[in-house]
Amino acid sequence: MAKRSLTIHEVVKYPEPVLAKRADEVSAFDEELATLVEEMFDSMYAAQGIGLAAPQISIGKRIAVIDVSFKKDPKDKIALINPEIVAETGKQVEEEGCLSLPEIREKVQRSAWVKVRAQDIHGDWFEVEGEELLARALQHEIDHLDGVLFIDRISRLKREMVLRKIKKLQKNGEW
Ligand code: NI
Repeated sequence: MAKRSLTIHEVVKYPEPVLAKRADEVSAFDEELATLVEEMFDSMYAAQGIGLAAPQISIGKRIAVIDVSFKKDPKDKIALINPEIVAETGKQVEEEGCLSLPEIREKVQRSAWVKVRAQDIHGDWFEVEGEELLARALQHEIDHLDGVLFIDRISRLKREMVLRKIKKLQKNGEW
């Protein structure tokens, strides 16, 4: 059986305005949403990422996809519609990256464990709990839906260094 061909969406980079806006709630759980979610997984894999939020493909909706094992374990493939963190505990500080900030990696403090409530593509609510990398990915992607990037969670000094690096890359036509 031939697989439907899906659109691979371009991932937009900082400082694209859509990345800084709060995304809108999803209210229609239809075929269009299901297709978009599949396209988001394909776009994420094409960009070699383990998480992607809809604003990163210029769609201001509260949708995120995560696969921390990058296709190795089907259980790790998670689609989150209208997700919210309902519980969190502990601290972890690890290096983080983002498809919208290529080549930038900085240590970011996050909760060590989170519980997230979200809807699936049919609109049914479910909960997902994660620690370590999954906890980080959940927090990172939900941040995107609130217009927050990981560079908004580092020190002012580090952030200024990152912004200088981006300016240099832009100047050289590498951004
Ligand atoms: Ni990101």
